[in-house]
Amino acid sequence: MIRHARPADHPAIHALNLAAFPGAAEADLVARLRADGDSVFEMVAEGEGQIIGHILYSRLWADSVNLYLALAPMAVSPDQQKQGIGSDLVRTSLEFCKECGAHGVLVLGHLDYYPRFGFSAAAAAKVNSPYAGSPAFMALPLEDGAFDAPLTLAYPDGFNGL
Ligand SMILES: CC(C)(COP(=O)(O)OP(=O)(O)OC[C@H]1O[C@@H](n2cnc3c(N)ncnc32)[C@H](O)[C@@H]1OP(=O)(O)O)[C@@H](O)C(=O)NCCC(=O)NCCS
Repeated sequence: MIRHARPADHPAIHALNLAAFPGAAEADLVARLRADGDSVFEMVAEGEGQIIGHILYSRLWADSVNLYLALAPMAVSPDQQKQGIGSDLVRTSLEFCKECGAHGVLVLGHLDYYPRFGFSAAAAAKVNSPYAGSPAFMALPLEDGAFDAPLTLAYPDGFNGL
């Protein structure tokens, strides 16, 4: 089951991020984004009453009136990976991004993973951001023309030092 995260889920989400990533950077990022009010929404995958997946979207500050979101981080419990849970989380959450009126989504992530959802480095080519130029910096337009013109996006402070 994919659903929006609740505050009561926060300890389980923290534990999940610690288990899925080699260090605490991503778990700490989630806490910083929440504390700074930069998290737009979080979703979790729940199985047998346990939180087994998590994804967070934060607000990017753009030199346009449009809403751009950063997908980061996302994680699936190590013993539950490669069963499609991550894909369900991405697809369900991207539908909610559209409902929120987001113009486009950015991710800095695995080159072999995010393109299956439509993300591409080519779409991010005109985006000026701290991650510009990295092949892992990928964009997904949710509305026509979202990345056609040069665009500057600033990440929330929580990303500093990652
Ligand atoms: C990446 C992650 C969220 C995918 O979750 P998942 O539930 O296993 O994903 P799915 O079952 O939907 O898809 C599995 C696919 O993802 C691929 N995948 C998993 N980790 C990957 C990685 N590090 N790089 C590239 N591809 C990866 C698998 O090879 C598999 O590919 P296939 O469908 O071609 O066989 C999960 O592996 C994870 O939590 N990894 C550790 C944390 C992490 O790296 N998060 C992403 C940060 S950008």
